[in-house]
Amino acid sequence: MNRREFLLGSAASAGLAGAATWINAAPSQKRELTIQPASFKLRTRRTMDMVSLSPDAPPPVLLGRQGEPMQLRVINGTEDYTAMHWHGLRIPNAMDGVPYLTQMPIAGGESFDYEFTPPDAGTYWYHPHCMTMAQMAHGLTGVMVIAEAEDPGFDADQVVNLRDFRLDENDAFLPYSTARGAARSGTFGNVITANWRQAPVYDQPTGGLVRLRLVNSDTTRIYRLYLSTDTARIMAWDGHPVEVPVALPSAQAPLLLGPGQRVDLAVKMPAHEGQTIELLADLPGQPGRVMTQLRAVGRDLARDLRDLKPLPANPVSRPDLAKAEVHDFVFGWTPEGRAPDDGYCGSLGYSFWSINRTPWAGDAARDTGPLATLERGKSYILRLRNESPNLHPIHLHGLAFVPIRSNRRQLPPLMTDTILLLKDEVVEIALVADNPGDWAFHCHVIEHQKTGLAGFLRVT
Ligand code: C2O
Ligand code: CU
Ligand code: CU
Repeated sequence: MNRREFLLGSAASAGLAGAATWINAAPSQKRELTIQPASFKLRTRRTMDMVSLSPDAPPPVLLGRQGEPMQLRVINGTEDYTAMHWHGLRIPNAMDGVPYLTQMPIAGGESFDYEFTPPDAGTYWYHPHCMTMAQMAHGLTGVMVIAEAEDPGFDADQVVNLRDFRLDENDAFLPYSTARGAARSGTFGNVITANWRQAPVYDQPTGGLVRLRLVNSDTTRIYRLYLSTDTARIMAWDGHPVEVPVALPSAQAPLLLGPGQRVDLAVKMPAHEGQTIELLADLPGQPGRVMTQLRAVGRDLARDLRDLKPLPANPVSRPDLAKAEVHDFVFGWTPEGRAPDDGYCGSLGYSFWSINRTPWAGDAARDTGPLATLERGKSYILRLRNESPNLHPIHLHGLAFVPIRSNRRQLPPLMTDTILLLKDEVVEIALVADNPGDWAFHCHVIEHQKTGLAGFLRVT
């Protein structure tokens, strides 16, 4: 086995395909995914009561290809209800995985066939949307890579799924939610992982170009990230190729990556075998904590960042701002006296938050119509106002949108599905309502979502 085969082999066995592995391999777009109990050594002892798609490993990276159909049969091997959502994919509403809104919850022992053709290439992810907090907190968050139709020219690909777990001193789960956290910035985990490991080291080709796909699949934490190198470039943001230059994050100006958000970087590996590049995070009390390391292995490939062409744009319609109708949304506290609906998909028992004073704290939008009805094909501006001191990563299903202005900062016009609203911030986003259906619209701090900060938009 030569070194290159070894690299690809070891990457593949970690569930993290090297670029060549999926671009040349037979497509793996048809799969059965069984949600099941799992255990894994996250720290020093095996943590039981985890939820994954195999008994002893993190949820795998699901690979698809832009414009090619995928068939994913999700089998519920647990006793709780579930439903799987494909975050960021602009697919038909019936495949979106939101209980009561797009499908009925999947009971234990039952399955649901998800079939769709991803229109966009990029980095996406998947997670349940029923028993969301319980199942995500216990492990069920995975990355989805939709490959470009043509090889974009990287030497390797590295997925980094960032997330925390909340464990006690015996490495057993602590309660995943607290009323105090849910009403403020969320309940934080205390074991911080990349691909379920603490500071894993990945071998990458010396002098090569690595596509580093960072995914924040945590239920709560906003990561502040940067690299130990400046020979890197941001290539894509929340799946979509960047069309304007975006400054590389640094220790002084780290990248804020909220729950649900992704960023793809092109990283040039050092020219000497054994040298490393670190992904660092500023955590409370731990500035510059190493999240993962890339270690140069093999002969120098002597690549140059300038070898890379920009990634081809995804086929997203551009909104016509002159004709766009404006809709307002206020994210804030909930009116008194609305108890959460306790259905099959779990509630956290409180109603703290709301959109436009309407909380959606249970599973079903009972007595709650759409927050807005958008006419198919028309352009809209959504004005999002955060009237709380907490940050909210606001996510819209089924459609991509672009920020156009903020009252607090300069926002580059990066196509996205999740925008981080800062304290007291008002952000206007624009979109073309070109995908019909009822699309969930919520905060991706799951305790906020599950205590009211959720709703849906209807596209006719
Ligand atoms: Cu990532 Cu409604 O979800
Ligand atoms: Cu989503
Ligand atoms: Cu929130």
